[in-house]
Amino acid sequence: MFNEEFHLEQPIRWGMVGGGRGSQIGYIHRNSALRDRLFTLCAGAFDVNEERGREFGVNWGVAPERCYPDYKTMFAEEAKRPDGIQAVSIATPNFTHYEILKAALEAGLHAICEKPLCFTTEQAEELVSLAKKQNRIVGVTYGYTGAQMVHQARRMIQEGVLGEIRIINMQFAHGYHSSAVEANDPGTKWRVTPEKAGPSYVLGDVGTHALFLAETMVPNLKIEKLMCARQSFVKSRAPLEDNAFVLIQYDNGAVGNLWASCVNAGSTHQQKIRVVGEKASIEWWDEHPNQLIFEEQGRPVQILDRGQGYLYQDDEAITCDRMGGGHAEGLFESWANLYRRFATAMDRVIHGESSNVVMDDIWFPNIRDGAEGVRFIENCVRSSDQDSVWVNYT
Ligand code: NAI
Repeated sequence: MFNEEFHLEQPIRWGMVGGGRGSQIGYIHRNSALRDRLFTLCAGAFDVNEERGREFGVNWGVAPERCYPDYKTMFAEEAKRPDGIQAVSIATPNFTHYEILKAALEAGLHAICEKPLCFTTEQAEELVSLAKKQNRIVGVTYGYTGAQMVHQARRMIQEGVLGEIRIINMQFAHGYHSSAVEANDPGTKWRVTPEKAGPSYVLGDVGTHALFLAETMVPNLKIEKLMCARQSFVKSRAPLEDNAFVLIQYDNGAVGNLWASCVNAGSTHQQKIRVVGEKASIEWWDEHPNQLIFEEQGRPVQILDRGQGYLYQDDEAITCDRMGGGHAEGLFESWANLYRRFATAMDRVIHGESSNVVMDDIWFPNIRDGAEGVRFIENCVRSSDQDSVWVNYT
């Protein structure tokens, strides 16, 4: 059961770039970081519009002099204070992540960065090296992977309950952008603008979530080659795709497929991961995160429920149960579980441990995982740009 009494000697002094008024993702960052009193929100450059950002921060309760016009000013001014921020979350549109994360690391801050981390593998490698050099933790908000049943699945696979893994079926295919909603929605407009979104739309926006869920459940699979076909059903979005199919060949003979879409009309999310082994399969669906479907060949389907005695009791995931079974937990708890891990890792580095980018005994989506998402997108685009040929994974 969850230990509500766990705390750090001092909560981590934390700032935010982006995530201001009306943003899609700002609230869940704040909710997750502040929930367990492991972070204190001290400063922010919350908005691309200086005045709106300051007003938002002040209304939220941040001291007016610590609501900054931009991230550069925030990093410079906070560095001068004895009580300056120690960590920052970056919740801005994609094209800004690379420069802001780089500046944060150069300023000696720990960071939590939205996906995709940047646009190219070269940039991603540079960021990984910088985090290593600066001995700083970077968490990436693949937010679904804090869900306890995902870790139950990971452990079942690790213990061989499914037998050898053969097939990974991944999808995140919603229908919210089945028509050109971007005409009246700035949050969608930047997503379909290559200079702002990067080389892909749905592959980066939703596909990397499904990919990382699979990587979390089956961490030892390595992609050997892939083939990608992508389409822009709303023509004005070209060259960025609003639908994509990817076929994957792993190096041990297993195969995978991934469907990323925002034009799956009528669908609210449809993020589902199915892992098929030689003896059994499991399936997890983000709209029902408290359940894990377990199907053994020749036996009735079992629905495993969060918080029950038949789950692994010695797993770190079970200690994340904030409520007993039967009470629904969801995305906010999943994110809070990740922020708790980020805080624990950061605190240990603050107290003198060396991070080497990951901490061996705390699992969390780290900068290498973020870099893998960028690599995946790059390989998909390379395949689809050659008329969807198989490409060796580089
Ligand atoms: P949004 O367009 O709704 O909000 C962006 C926010 O960033 C706004 O408050 C804007 O004023 C601010 N901003 C933009 N440029 C800035 C700058 N240079 N300095 C300071 N603030 C700036 O975008 P949304 O949907 O919240 O997405 C933000 C990021 O979060 C994206 O990278 C997106 O991929 C990611 N995201 C991740 C999700 C997840 O599940 N992990 C879910 C939704 C979005």
